[in-house]
Amino acid sequence: MPEPLIDGVIRKIWIDRGGPYRDHLLRLDRESRRNRFGGAVSDEFIENYAELSRGLDCVMHGFFVDGLLRGVAELRPLGKEFAKEAEAAFSIEKPWQSHGVGSALLERTLLAARNRGIKLLHMACLANNERMVDLARKFEAELTFDFGSVIGEVEAAHPTPMSMWREVVADTHGFATAMLDVQTRMMKPA
Ligand SMILES: CC(C)(COP(=O)(O)OP(=O)(O)OC[C@H]1O[C@@H](n2cnc3c(N)ncnc32)[C@H](O)[C@@H]1OP(=O)(O)O)[C@@H](O)C(=O)NCCC(=O)NCCS
Repeated sequence: MPEPLIDGVIRKIWIDRGGPYRDHLLRLDRESRRNRFGGAVSDEFIENYAELSRGLDCVMHGFFVDGLLRGVAELRPLGKEFAKEAEAAFSIEKPWQSHGVGSALLERTLLAARNRGIKLLHMACLANNERMVDLARKFEAELTFDFGSVIGEVEAAHPTPMSMWREVVADTHGFATAMLDVQTRMMKPA
């Protein structure tokens, strides 16, 4: 498991993700925001988007620094239960870009996709997003990409006992760290 990166940790986001997710997306610089959404979008669009993501059936991993959400990977199944295709989207705030956070988030997202039987992963980015294409290319062993449209096919899409175990271990680690975060914050003077 790729841990910890520069000065943060990655863990699944389970509850109340709307507010922190919205604040994170609003903090993206102009270029990152455009790359994340495939074009310029307003603050209002982001507020609605984050609100909507609360109710959707997606798996989200967050990158936290001192309890603040600085990066997110979204895995959103396309269609109803047992969907075979999903969309993945990544956002990392500028100061934490190019430090391996995107790679670690993609690794966790691929594991989650595999354990859910996802075969095709659509990257929510433009084909000319070079950094995202470079990042995806690092995972060619696990993901076959059509870079024209940035669609990846997850290799060995079936979950195995080992891949399920890896996700459980990753989540347990994240949970333990989350509890430690909460305890540390509770102990700090307000
Ligand atoms: C695209 C994004 C997710 C990549 O995450 P990241 O943490 O910056 O990327 P990593 O540090 O893991 O680097 C992944 C690869 O990208 C390439 N890369 C990283 N930084 C780069 C830079 N400054 N210039 C060019 N390529 C770069 C490298 O090939 C790198 O692999 P390497 O470290 O093995 O050499 C992140 O930069 C981001 O959120 N950008 C804004 C939003 C966006 O574009 N989202 C994608 C659309 S959904």
